[in-house]
Amino acid sequence: MADIHNIVILTGAGVSAESGVATFRGPGGVWEGHRVEDVCTPQALARDPELVHRFYDERRAKLASVAPNAAHRALARLDAQWPGELLLVTQNVDDLHERAGSTRLLHMHGELKSALCAACGIRTAWEEALPPQTECPNCGTPALRPDIVFFGEMPYEMERIEAALAEADLFVSIGTSGAVYPAAGFVQTARHRGAATLELNLDPSEGSLWFAESRMGPAGVLVPTWVEEMLAP
Ligand code: APR
Repeated sequence: MADIHNIVILTGAGVSAESGVATFRGPGGVWEGHRVEDVCTPQALARDPELVHRFYDERRAKLASVAPNAAHRALARLDAQWPGELLLVTQNVDDLHERAGSTRLLHMHGELKSALCAACGIRTAWEEALPPQTECPNCGTPALRPDIVFFGEMPYEMERIEAALAEADLFVSIGTSGAVYPAAGFVQTARHRGAATLELNLDPSEGSLWFAESRMGPAGVLVPTWVEEMLAP
């Protein structure tokens, strides 16, 4: 990979599927238990805060029973050994990339293990259940909510993501259906910059046609193989 220096990687629910974390749109997906508009919109939070807080409490609690898989571990190895720039942008709100050891990482859709104050905007690490009306440790307002970017809200760190894409020589998308923007548009931004593009996914995604190369299969198999290729002397 002589001419690859700067890499941007995007992950979605598929990278955590083999850890036992439900994907959103597959069989048994998280959303199949709930309509998106009932648990992942600002309107839903205003309409039924108990339901929304409980939905994310259940998913936060489940993190204790899952572990990083071979894909997370391979990405952490690349993070540690890649000499150039590397940014792992995850749409996932689980903490499996961190637990595997990735550090050059950001969560564009928020994190289960964080609480957001709707009054002052402070984000606070949060491990346990988060009932509605919990007081913010910073401003004291009873306005803590799950730190999840709801549909219709602005994803986190878009400027940092766009700056990384502007310098990328390679954009790799792993385990995402390409159904939700702006993440689904990153491959087009990368292509316009002349970056190489690679998709690693179980099934063809809505964005597959944009990738110069698509490899179909489980992330636990494809990602370690790809990382080996990238780190080969
Ligand atoms: N290995 C690789 N890919 C997999 C695996 C696996 N073991 N299992 C499933 N996949 C793929 C599926 O083929 C699908 O393309 O992962 C993708 C999961 O798609 P979604 O369930 O739509 O999840 P994601 O793309 O992350 O959703 C994006 O939508 O609901 C919102 O905010 C939520 O971040 C989420 C966003």
